[in-house]
Amino acid sequence: MDLKGRHLIEPADLTAGEMERLFGEAERIIARPKDYAEVCKGKLLATLFYEPSTRTRFSFEAAMLRLGGQVIGFSEPGSSSVSKGESIADTIRTVECYADIAVMRHPKEGSVLVASRQSGIPVINAGDGGHHHPTQTLTDLLTIKLEKGGFDGITMGLCGDLKFGRTVHSLIHALTRYTGVRFIMISPEELSVPEYVREKIRKSGLEFEETRDLREALPKLDVLYMTRVQRERFFNEEDYIRLKDRYILSASKLKSAKQDLMILHPLPRVNEIAAEVDTDPRAHYFRQAKNGMYVRMALLIALLGVKEV
Ligand code: NCD
Repeated sequence: MDLKGRHLIEPADLTAGEMERLFGEAERIIARPKDYAEVCKGKLLATLFYEPSTRTRFSFEAAMLRLGGQVIGFSEPGSSSVSKGESIADTIRTVECYADIAVMRHPKEGSVLVASRQSGIPVINAGDGGHHHPTQTLTDLLTIKLEKGGFDGITMGLCGDLKFGRTVHSLIHALTRYTGVRFIMISPEELSVPEYVREKIRKSGLEFEETRDLREALPKLDVLYMTRVQRERFFNEEDYIRLKDRYILSASKLKSAKQDLMILHPLPRVNEIAAEVDTDPRAHYFRQAKNGMYVRMALLIALLGVKEV
């Protein structure tokens, strides 16, 4: 595999085999972090965030710093020349003069792809509108792999805002490459998965169900992926208020779930998982956030080509 110099815009930019290699590298980093402390020495990461972020930006920055590299960037587009009307194409052409690799999050679908086409340095999509979020998928898959050993044959429940949730779209795309995965998609009618995602599952020949009922779906699941209703992508506040608390995972609902269920959430959580669930051994979402840093370390190493992955 030579990932050196490549962009990561959506999960399909990596083969299943390449993802496996990144997971292997992430596991080696977890086991021996000291061996990696200088791997990116002299390298500079630029983080260009046109939308809010906690985990994605911090985990990328922490990843680069833990690899011995350095970081520049903005988390407030208002503080850069974006506020003067500069295009993303011009911004990325400027950033490549200074940095070796860039991570970009933007509210418009397709914008990070556009930026990558103008860029001489690798560009990583940290979320483009309601479209894709491939490094969250790497995080999610590594977390499942560490616990379950693999993905074949799992029954995956996805619950909440499946329409605007970019993490859901990327995760489904990546999982369609494995055998025997079954999807149970739990959402209000208005927030069901976009047709292009449904089509992707159909083409893969995998089974899927769509339901409105979390309680009924729960006992069947090996993994439950909860998501936040994406307020910022709604056209009006009334629809958001009507839909936001439709699904709330509580300790009492979990009584009917499997003992080895994994509860995941890309975070931030609003109300969709009651705080009482955090102490349940099946809650993996904070460990998942930590894994995000390790898999991003592996990704930076691979795209920069500083070490054989
Ligand atoms: C997600 C995102 O930005 O899409 N957050 C994240 O990166 N961990 C999910 C969300 O904001 O709901």
